[in-house]
Amino acid sequence: MNDLYRKIVEDVFAEPELFYQKLKEVPERAMTINTLKADEKTILDLCDLEYAKTDTEGSYTFKDEKVGSSIAYTLGLIYPQEKSAAKTILDLSICEPKLIVDLCAAPGGKTIDIAIKTQDKALIIANEVDKTRSKALLSNIEKTGISNIIITQTTSSDLAKKICGIADIVIVDAPCSGMGMARKYPSILDDLRAGDIKRCVNDQKMILDDAYKILKKDGLLIYSTCTYTKEENEDQIHDLIARHSDLKIIRKPQLLSFIDGSEGQFSCVLKKEKETDIIEPKLMKESDDKIIKSFIDEQLDIKDYYLYKVGDDHYLSLMPLYDLSDHVLRYGIHIGKVKGKDVIPVHSFYRANILKGHYKKVIDLNDVQYHDFIVGLEIKVDALDGYNLVTYRGYQLGFGKAVKGTLKNKYPKGLRIHN
Ligand SMILES: C[S@@+](CC[C@H](N)C(=O)[O-])C[C@H]1O[C@@H](n2cnc3c(N)ncnc32)[C@H](O)[C@@H]1O
Repeated sequence: MNDLYRKIVEDVFAEPELFYQKLKEVPERAMTINTLKADEKTILDLCDLEYAKTDTEGSYTFKDEKVGSSIAYTLGLIYPQEKSAAKTILDLSICEPKLIVDLCAAPGGKTIDIAIKTQDKALIIANEVDKTRSKALLSNIEKTGISNIIITQTTSSDLAKKICGIADIVIVDAPCSGMGMARKYPSILDDLRAGDIKRCVNDQKMILDDAYKILKKDGLLIYSTCTYTKEENEDQIHDLIARHSDLKIIRKPQLLSFIDGSEGQFSCVLKKEKETDIIEPKLMKESDDKIIKSFIDEQLDIKDYYLYKVGDDHYLSLMPLYDLSDHVLRYGIHIGKVKGKDVIPVHSFYRANILKGHYKKVIDLNDVQYHDFIVGLEIKVDALDGYNLVTYRGYQLGFGKAVKGTLKNKYPKGLRIHN
C-alpha cells in the first residue's frame, strides 16, 4: 500500500486498523435478482448457485465461481454485482419516473437495478463514453431483457446538449479513483496517485453539471463513487450545491467500506428545486417497412408498436422513443436487418421481457436439449419451419431456425458455453 492510500484511509476512517484487517478478506460476490423475468421466490428456487441472504434489504451473496455457466445467469434471472453497489439505487416508491438518464452506465449494474425497481416502465437512456465498455453494457441489457431503453455511446456533455430539464432521475455513478475496489483489484493500493484523484474530481464536476442540466424541476440526482477520498465524495456534493443552490440533499451521503463487510461505495441523492432550460428531443420518425411488419406479424401477436429504422437496422418499441441521432447503439428492442426479401433477426429480439408471452412460435427445451443448445449444437425438434423463440423452463434463452425437424442454432457464438 502506498503512502497516499494509507493517508486517505487514516483521514477518513476512525478505525484504520480495522480497515486494514478487513482489507485482507476475500470480497463477497452478490447478485441482483431480475424480477423483470419472474418473482424473487421463483428465481431463487431455480437458482443453481449456492447463495445466502445477507440482510433484510434483500441482498444475496454467492460462493460459486462458475456463475458464467450457471442456468440462472444464462437465462438473465440474476445479475452479479458488488453488494455495496446494489444499495445505491434508492426505493423508488417515492416517485414514478417516466424518464431516467444514466450518464455513466457501463457495464450496467445501476441501469439494471433501476429498470428492475421501476419494472421497466420508465424510458431509460443509458449512456457510456467508452466504446469497449459500451459493448458490455449492450450485452448485459440484452441478457436481462430490459426493453424500454435507448443506449448511447457519447460524453455526458454531448447528451446534455440534446436533452435538458426533462429527466425525472439522473444517475451519475462516476468515474473515480476506485479505492473501494482494492480487495477486488489490489493493484490500486500501490497505483493510487494524487494526479488521478484530481483528474477524477474534474471529470465528476463536469458530469454532475451535465446531470443538473438534464434533470427537471423536482427530479432526483443519484450520485455515487466507489472510492473513499473526500474530494470525490462529500466535497464534490458540497461544491455542487455551491454551484446550484436549489439542489437539496434528500438522502444523506452514505459511505460503505470494507469495515461494513462490503466494497467501497459512496452515495448521495439530491433533488433539483428550480426549473432550468428545457430541450426535449423530437420523437423518432416511425418506419413503415413492409418486410419487417410482416415478420413481426409472423412472429408476435402484438398490434400496437413503434417501428424504427436506423441505417440497416430495425428496432421495435412499445413506447415512442426520442431521436438522439448520432451515437445511439440501440433504440428499444433490436429486431435485425432485412436482406433481400428476408429478415435476419438478432438474439436480443428474442430476449426482450416485454415480448414474453407474445411470441407465436416457441420451442421449450428439455434438460438435454438445453445443454446441447448452449454449446451451439443443432437440435431435433417437432416445430414449424422458420424462426422460433427458444425457451428453457419457460424463460427466453435465444432463437433458432427450424428446417424440416432440425433447429439451426442461432445462439450467439460469444455466449456459447464451453466446458
Ligand atoms: C463507475 S463506472 C460505472 C459503473 C456502472 N454505473 C455500473 O453500475 O455498472 C464509471 C463509467 O463512467 C464512464 N465515463 C467516464 N467519463 C465519462 C463521461 N464524461 N461521460 C460518460 N461516461 C463517462 C467510464 O468509462 C466508466 O465506464
